[in-house]
Amino acid sequence: MSTTITIAQTASQPLTVNRLGYGTMRLTGPEIWGEPANRPEALQILRTAVELGVNFIDTADYYGEDVTNRLIREALHPYSSDLVICTKVGATRRPDKSWVPYNTPENLRASIDNNLRTLKQEQVQLVHLRLMGHGQVPLDEQLGAMFEMQREGKILHVGLSNVTREELEAGLQLGPIATVENMYSYAQRTTVKLPHGANPGGEEVLDLCEQHGIPLIPFFSLLHALPKELDKIGEIARRHDATPAQINIAWLLHKSPWLLPIPGTSSLAHLQENLKAADIRLSAEDMAYLG
Ligand SMILES: NC(=O)c1ccc[n+]([C@@H]2O[C@H](COP(=O)([O-])OP(=O)(O)OC[C@H]3O[C@@H](n4cnc5c(N)ncnc54)[C@H](OP(=O)(O)O)[C@@H]3O)[C@@H](O)[C@H]2O)c1
Repeated sequence: MSTTITIAQTASQPLTVNRLGYGTMRLTGPEIWGEPANRPEALQILRTAVELGVNFIDTADYYGEDVTNRLIREALHPYSSDLVICTKVGATRRPDKSWVPYNTPENLRASIDNNLRTLKQEQVQLVHLRLMGHGQVPLDEQLGAMFEMQREGKILHVGLSNVTREELEAGLQLGPIATVENMYSYAQRTTVKLPHGANPGGEEVLDLCEQHGIPLIPFFSLLHALPKELDKIGEIARRHDATPAQINIAWLLHKSPWLLPIPGTSSLAHLQENLKAADIRLSAEDMAYLG
């Protein structure tokens, strides 16, 4: 099992990161809104993640809003040269906490500028264009704006999020797509319809990513798995003296060398538990049993 993964491997500035990252969305207040109840713990989670070897952190300026970006800056700036902070654009929040598209070329430019300002960076290393409000703003207009900002140097690498296989294929025709961030887990491997038009592809997107050497960053990898009665996960967990969360993460790490998990948590203890999953070695028999 490879412990690192390379993003944009054929580009002039590829990024190699450790294969277990951290997603910050759970660090905000309830409903991904406002400040965390325990701000010192949120800052400690970010610092501990990096101390324990995480060098890939996922965020968005619409978490909070701006809350996770500000926490990252406060906890980790000045950033270590090997740290990759990955953000997203294409959505925003309304005061009623709803999630709405924000994806005209002007919106995307404003979001990138806001991410650069709140993260205190001169260049966003990796940004996912999160597809939302499908069809309202054509993909080529959205990606065109992203590639324009890439040429200007505001963005190093462009990825896509919440994409079907067809949308990823269309994106690849338009320019270099470094990564994909989609819903995927042991418990959720097929395409699902979500509210607000999001429609992430399942395993058929992973297949395409593997063919093109594109890392797939799965989100909700625990959310959909942990509440379920997953007997097989429980059994493998007992065999490895591990927790179900750890086996869910270890399964992703073994499933494909192109998966880069970013399990999210608002708990320091869960973070420490989750990161230990990188040390678990599942045998071929374990993987066959899990299916
Ligand atoms: N591109 C997109 O559209 C998109 C959408 C959603 C999320 N994301 C990104 O993906 C990241 C991961 O998604 P997520 O955080 O929503 O979901 P997740 O990683 O599937 O799981 C988070 C949930 O699992 C719980 N959890 C974590 N570790 C645990 C453990 N060891 N034992 C028991 N429960 C545990 C967390 O609760 P506790 O806080 O109590 O640990 C939280 O409720 C996000 O943080 C965000 O950065 C991207």
